[in-house]
Amino acid sequence: MVDFNPKILSKEELSNISAGVNEEDLLLFEDHCINVHYESNVFIEAKEPGSPWVVVKNLKNGEFSEMLDCTSQNWVLALGFANPDINYAVSEQMKRLTHVKSSGTSPARVKFVNKLAELAPGRLKDGRVHVNNSGGGAAIEAAIKLSLIASKEGEQILTFQGAYHGNSLAMITASHPIHSVTRFRPFGVDVFTRVPQPYCYRCLWNYKEGLYGNKDPQCNMECFGIANKYLMGLTSRRLAAVLLEPYQGPGGHIPFPPEYLEKLKEICDEEKIFRIYDECQTGVWRTGKYFTLTERYEKELNLDVSPDMMCFTKAIGGGFPLGAMIASKKMRKRFSPSEDHTTFCNTPISLTAGLASIKVIEKAKYGENCEERGKQITKRLLELQENYEVIGDIRGPGLFIGVEMVKDQTSRVPNSELMNEMLAEGMRQKILFGPSMPYLTTTGKILMHNLIKIKPPIIINEEEADFICEKFEDVLKAALNNI
Ligand SMILES: Cc1ncc(COP(=O)(O)O)c(C=O)c1O
Repeated sequence: MVDFNPKILSKEELSNISAGVNEEDLLLFEDHCINVHYESNVFIEAKEPGSPWVVVKNLKNGEFSEMLDCTSQNWVLALGFANPDINYAVSEQMKRLTHVKSSGTSPARVKFVNKLAELAPGRLKDGRVHVNNSGGGAAIEAAIKLSLIASKEGEQILTFQGAYHGNSLAMITASHPIHSVTRFRPFGVDVFTRVPQPYCYRCLWNYKEGLYGNKDPQCNMECFGIANKYLMGLTSRRLAAVLLEPYQGPGGHIPFPPEYLEKLKEICDEEKIFRIYDECQTGVWRTGKYFTLTERYEKELNLDVSPDMMCFTKAIGGGFPLGAMIASKKMRKRFSPSEDHTTFCNTPISLTAGLASIKVIEKAKYGENCEERGKQITKRLLELQENYEVIGDIRGPGLFIGVEMVKDQTSRVPNSELMNEMLAEGMRQKILFGPSMPYLTTTGKILMHNLIKIKPPIIINEEEADFICEKFEDVLKAALNNI
């Protein structure tokens, strides 16, 4: 194994690629960039390796500042920016080999796949793992493919209001209609059927005590009745699978009550409908000391609601592009070579980073840290809630925190304006908070876009957690003043 020694370009030239940009580059970029919206901040570098703080340059005034990132950059950087352990593992991998073809096996692939099979909860333990180079959408499509292959004549997939499963032409249809619905016709409309999700804070049956992620004690799970009609044959064609985030992330941090998941499991097992969990956001210790939310239910509630397939993205790649799906070993079918591959699906770099990050989290007990820091922040938010009528529901656990901003706690009318102003004010006060996705009507009118997400890297320390709480209040006060 040799160290990097560039042959064509100089070290300086190569290093400059990831360093600063000039005004001219930026002007050209503004003309040319179509594929992603962008903000007025350019992310330059980690404040220090493995830190939740990042140095950014503001394009409008040219100033540099340090920001604490409560978005973990699309909830990916669980171990902070430029984590040194992951970077070391990756650079060792890069010295050896950076790419193998889709059927190629690398040591990193073997070890990553075996580790995920070991970590998976319930009926997924020792299951079979599929990896991809892109993320959650591709992992979910793999799960759907497998359910279509394995299901006896099942053709349709049941999904939920408020869901987000990705942005491919198929996943847009599987998700709650958000951005694209009025701009082009989504694909696969005959494949996906959506039903309302259980949303205890905004219960369709008007139960009022569904707070802090728990259901109302009086609730009889009426909402399950709707899904049940579809599971029992209301769809136009036979169901192959039901796809859900057991705790919806993008749609507003909305947990499915564990009892709902239990009923779902019972009916799906009876009716031979596969269950696919999307733990893209809740997996990889984001919700605290357990690898997945499903594991939390198993260990804390003694409830095995594990699905037939589970999908991951975000932190699973340790900051590098990776998606993974694990299927129960009882699902005997496998893909044929032509049924599933992409050019980069076996990238050893991401697999190395993913495995390194899992090992670091386990050894440093960052899951436990996430649980503790989550409790610390949530406790403070609950105190603030007593003084601010505009703080509606607060939903955790761990550092998977969502705060619903409302007009007032009695009416619970979503306060989308306040949420937006808090994001902007956060930037001004050097803290990045995240938004939920908007709920739109078919004409594009915003119905609800009111959840602030606090999901910093799970490595934050006590001081940083305090800082987040202080800033949350400062930002809230300023935003209330501004609107
Ligand atoms: C819950 C959930 N599922 C699926 C996806 C899609 O993942 P990706 O963007 O990696 O395709 C996301 C992305 O935000 C997500 O939050």
